[in-house]
Amino acid sequence: MRDINQFTITQAVKDSFRTEAGSRFEKLLHGFLDHLHDFTRENQITHEEWMGVLNFLYDCGQISTPERHEFILLSDVVGFSALVDLINSKGGATEGSNLGPFYLDDAPRKKLGADLAGGREGACVLVHGKVTDTLHKPLPGAIVDTWQADGAGTYPIQEQAQGQDKMDLRGIFETDDQGRYYYTTILPKPYTVPFDGPVGRLLRAGDRHAWRAAHLHYIIRHPGMNAITTEIFFEGTEYTDNDAVFGVRKSLLARVLPARDVAALGYDLDREPDAVCEFDFVLAPEG
Ligand SMILES: [Fe+2]
Repeated sequence: MRDINQFTITQAVKDSFRTEAGSRFEKLLHGFLDHLHDFTRENQITHEEWMGVLNFLYDCGQISTPERHEFILLSDVVGFSALVDLINSKGGATEGSNLGPFYLDDAPRKKLGADLAGGREGACVLVHGKVTDTLHKPLPGAIVDTWQADGAGTYPIQEQAQGQDKMDLRGIFETDDQGRYYYTTILPKPYTVPFDGPVGRLLRAGDRHAWRAAHLHYIIRHPGMNAITTEIFFEGTEYTDNDAVFGVRKSLLARVLPARDVAALGYDLDREPDAVCEFDFVLAPEG
């Protein structure tokens, strides 16, 4: 019979799984077990602490619904999501950032120059720029899929019960023959991630707030290029230094400036903007 003690149990557990030698599954499973067991040994975890973790995960499952994924939120607030984004950002391309919970894959197609504000109050901002490859060559026909919160920090999808259309403040644009995208909208406000569940308890235990810096969400695609999921933030706005989910990168900060000489840009806009926000997206080739 195998002699199991606190030092031999890790290898015994690894041996208990029949895995393909050298496979990715084996590498990740064994690595996970090594780290988990090492952590437990190093910290001499008590029964009370162990049960506390299991009950925390149980609570995360209990509060989750199709519209609320508490485990994604947990991943976000401990920087796990951001770490995966950073690891998978390709050199020279725009850095990735959080997808968040409000993406819909069937947003309406909009023509360049459309206004996404839908009559909402707030300063009208022209959001524009180019989509290029890493050699700065413009990419015509790139897909710019965007979604955002409103001037109160709320996504319309969160207020469908109040009569909001979940497709508001989102749209899919295609860059023109110069690789340009442009549209008008209102600036989003910061909002809090949900903090009425177990992840909220974790934040409070660490004296942390739940605020996200204001942002615009994007997925940018083009055939032959790696798609990017990212966010644009605004220089000088709240929480850019302490975003609750660690989504802000220096390279993703854009400036919002008063609109001057917009006509010189040659855009066909449905609405005259008060302000302008320019941001270029860079895609790296596949492979
Ligand atoms: Fe968001």
